[in-house]
Amino acid sequence: MHEAAPVNPWVAFAYLVAGVCFILALRGLSSPATSRRGNRLGMIGMGIAVLTTILTHLPQAAPEGWTVYAPASSLPIAIDWASAAEILAAIAIGAIIGLTTARRIAMTAMPQLVAAFHSLVGLAAVLVGIAAYLNPGAFGISSVVVPMIGEPFNVINPVSKVEMGLGVAIGAITFSGSVIAFLKLNGSMSGKPILLPGRHVINLATLAAILLLVAQFAHTQDAWPFWAVVVLSFAIGFLLIIPIGGADMPVVVSMLNSYSGWAAAAMGFTLGNTAMIITGALVGSSGAILSYIMCRAMNRSFISVIAGGFGATDSGGGGAAAIDRPWKRGSAEDAAFLMQQAEQVIIVPGYGMAVAQAQHALREMGDKLKEHGVRVKYAIHPVAGRMPGHMNVLLAEANVPYDDVFELEDINSEFAQTDVAFVIGANDVTNPAAKTDKSSPIYGMPVLDVEKAKTVLFIKRSMGGVGYAGVDNEVFYRDNTMMLLADAKKMVEEIVKAMD
Ligand code: TAP
Repeated sequence: MHEAAPVNPWVAFAYLVAGVCFILALRGLSSPATSRRGNRLGMIGMGIAVLTTILTHLPQAAPEGWTVYAPASSLPIAIDWASAAEILAAIAIGAIIGLTTARRIAMTAMPQLVAAFHSLVGLAAVLVGIAAYLNPGAFGISSVVVPMIGEPFNVINPVSKVEMGLGVAIGAITFSGSVIAFLKLNGSMSGKPILLPGRHVINLATLAAILLLVAQFAHTQDAWPFWAVVVLSFAIGFLLIIPIGGADMPVVVSMLNSYSGWAAAAMGFTLGNTAMIITGALVGSSGAILSYIMCRAMNRSFISVIAGGFGATDSGGGGAAAIDRPWKRGSAEDAAFLMQQAEQVIIVPGYGMAVAQAQHALREMGDKLKEHGVRVKYAIHPVAGRMPGHMNVLLAEANVPYDDVFELEDINSEFAQTDVAFVIGANDVTNPAAKTDKSSPIYGMPVLDVEKAKTVLFIKRSMGGVGYAGVDNEVFYRDNTMMLLADAKKMVEEIVKAMD
């Protein structure tokens, strides 16, 4: 551990308050009813942390024209406004880019945005690590050694070297991994796994080499192992993510989220910043827990996701081609009639609802049905849509009552006693092949048992279109299924009209 600078108690207190805000924010985000409050608390915590860091680290003007950094314990006396302006300008530019991107981004492109933001966290960790290596004195992590002969030089504390090495490695892996995840999610690169021969051996050897190089750097402080760690870590981030298929990308994004947290925590140690350590650890552990939950929701082991290769034989399983099999087509009027006669309707939203932005029309339809005395429930699959909580967010935006929204395990047994399952733009999450067809790429994933309802109404645009996993769905061809082929929003609006 590097020598602890005396910490101003107010600074420590401010960071503590920020940490408590982050913990309460996570707690708030665990339910749609409290998520707005959670978000606000997170923003307040981050505001406190950023403001405290700026106030305690404003560059000071030193008499000789050198710029030194004020220790956390003392507020600057003579501020170097030129350097301070640079910092504030950088913050303003970042804030403007962040605000405009977040406002403009379509809900369906949110996973790409998250991947892009993670890449920046990773890159920031690498840059902080490089800066600390090149100028350790400014970070207070070294002591100057004056030899008998030659120039004085900086010796970085051994623990700081380990923190820097690991932080730079995790940051670089996060950066290149997130860039690949972004390209795959954005469709700029094929979602299919790219399988290099001997990739497991290459990956394991590279990871082992990185650890050895970090040890070498901590031992000698030589430049070459440090830069070798940077280069190899960028490469391994790339190699780790290219074999992972598109269907596993949500887990990858949350795993990279976790990595970015650990990178930030490692850099928090290097910078001696408690708020960064707390935030990094919270992001790191919550991302790891989310990855685990998502793996369970897809019935995939975490190791098999990381090892990659899922979806390589995508179009194979999942039933016969759409063209050859008979199916029934229904109209908005048919759907309106069937649902108004029902005692209970369970609505199953999926990615198509998000694309069509049909949530408001859907809520209106639900309200109308309730006016007719029909019980209306919404069934949410944990990986419906393209990001965790995707459906919950959209339904909340349309003011669907939280009490009407149920998770898979709480509602799945009810389909058998339900008159109508109304599937709107969901495909993979309703596919019974996941339960029966071992050759299907989604085999083993828990799915909503919509086919057990008396009638299934299925909205999608065409019989040819497939879901994310690229497989056909046997429910389309069942006797109790009626296909409603149209854009989800248009179809629901027509159903609402037909109900008048
Ligand atoms: P999908 O299986 O992707 O199916 C989407 C369905 O919506 C398709 O049948 C599509 O058929 C239809 N559709 C698309 N646009 C439409 C529109 N404008 N109007 C009406 N229908 C439309 O969706 P899902 O059931 O929600 O399953 C999610 C899949 O994504 C899973 O495989 C999951 O593993 C994966 N995934 C999940 C996440 C997370 S964390 N949620 C992230 C990435 C990937 P047409 O083209 O014929 O209309």
